[in-house]
Amino acid sequence: MRSLIDILSLSTEEIDELIAVAEDIIARPEAYREKCRYKKLATLFFEPSTRTRLSFEAAMYELGGSVLGFSEANSSSAAKGESVADTARTVSCYADIIAMRHPKEGAPLVASMAASVPIINAGDGGHNHPTQTLTDLLTIKREKGRLNNMTVGFCGDLKFGRTVHSLIEALSRYTGIKVVLISPEELKLPGYLKKDILDAKEIEYTETTDLSAVMPKLDILYMTRVQRERFFNEEDYLRLKDSYILTPEKLENAKSDLAILHPLPRVNEIHTSVDADPRACYFRQVLNGKFIRMALILKLLEVE
Ligand code: NCD
Repeated sequence: MRSLIDILSLSTEEIDELIAVAEDIIARPEAYREKCRYKKLATLFFEPSTRTRLSFEAAMYELGGSVLGFSEANSSSAAKGESVADTARTVSCYADIIAMRHPKEGAPLVASMAASVPIINAGDGGHNHPTQTLTDLLTIKREKGRLNNMTVGFCGDLKFGRTVHSLIEALSRYTGIKVVLISPEELKLPGYLKKDILDAKEIEYTETTDLSAVMPKLDILYMTRVQRERFFNEEDYLRLKDSYILTPEKLENAKSDLAILHPLPRVNEIHTSVDADPRACYFRQVLNGKFIRMALILKLLEVE
């Protein structure tokens, strides 16, 4: 039995395989409609979510399975003081696979040690978000036709943005990747990721506060929301929240085949007038999230 807690626990060959299965699902959805008949997915969400939870649910329904779960910590026994380990052990009696989101870093790992079914980390605090990364990789693959040889700009809250952390880990294993980190001083990428991932894998990277200055170089621009819920005080959030707002004017000197990604939800960081630009991929990215989660559920449940 295998869980997915950290994107690095999948080899790049396994990621390629998941992408290939997702592409096959897109091409032949009818072939997958009964694959998870009589299987149940539990979604245990201790933190708010729209896309991640609903895409897991839609994925399981499209595979012919069913779904149970909760979407708020307050409506579960966590509100009575139950541990994550006990909740995971209990839900293992009801479901074949569990997707868990939790505000505490490491909670899905703890759950995976207690559960008797696979656990999928659907986001743990400011740490990791491996299924968003699979979504992002499928999107990059579909938009650009490759996962290597490109310059990827990450913009916004690189300190608390868990999707950024997981995607940087994943991309560090491909060849010819250059990374540009664009953030306010206070929201820079954590040192451990620079040291253990970027430096360790000899990835060329630069840090800047100026999005416009680096725009012409980018093949991918990964925009992110400033993570209000992880701030210790509201004043800092208010000061930093609108540090970057992408507008059509700011895209004037961008490459014509730039791909703009965002894990969503967006607040102000991409003006809605950018949505009509063919380079805006974030709603296609949402759809990709459902397909790659279908592929992941099949893999972890070892369905042929
Ligand atoms: C992200 C998350 O939860 O980390 N959302 C998502 O899963 N698509 C990004 C965010 O909340 O900013």
